[in-house]
Amino acid sequence: MRTVILGSGTGSNCKSLLESQASNNLGSAKIVAIFSDIEDSGILEVGRHFGIKSVYLGPYNISSDTHGESDHEWISAVDQEKPDLIVLAGFMRILSSYFINFFGSRIINLHPSLLPSFKGLNAINQAWDEGVKITGCTVHWVSRHLDMGKIIDQRAVRISSEDSLDSLIRKVHIAEHFLLPTVVENIAKGTHTFPYCD
Ligand code: GRF
Repeated sequence: MRTVILGSGTGSNCKSLLESQASNNLGSAKIVAIFSDIEDSGILEVGRHFGIKSVYLGPYNISSDTHGESDHEWISAVDQEKPDLIVLAGFMRILSSYFINFFGSRIINLHPSLLPSFKGLNAINQAWDEGVKITGCTVHWVSRHLDMGKIIDQRAVRISSEDSLDSLIRKVHIAEHFLLPTVVENIAKGTHTFPYCD
């Protein structure tokens, strides 16, 4: 299962996927390329460290309903890898409907909350500010509606009275590092079927 990762950040989740792959824990999933919209992002360094094709594709500048030059460039670069699965691991841009339709529901996203709670940016801070006692992380299929595609799997994190926002952020990230490789392995096994794009 040819897998492409898109990300903008430090790449800790990409690292957990690559470590799982190195220990033969990703099943038939094979990470073939990593693309970023941030030239000096950690995710590209992580990918290069593991010897995976890791490319800065320039900014991804489109609004959700239109597509421009950068959309075409991104689609073409990703399509050249013939992906069976595209993983958004900290990709901080909203993909156009054109991009989503082009890849026909082969895209998953990792989100740091128990969706449908706390969609959008700064989800861990939102959960902290709300005072919830259980939060976590979610992997879902990407649809045209932000953070609203069909949920694939989740991992819960309890917020204790000893937690600070920083410790909660660490706990959610640790949960993500378990969840994402498990989901990718299960998709490769055929446990999670691809949905129709909605
Ligand atoms: C993760 O918390 C993910 O849920 C969110 O962006 C963060 C990426 O972190 N979408 P990293 O780049 O994988 O370290």
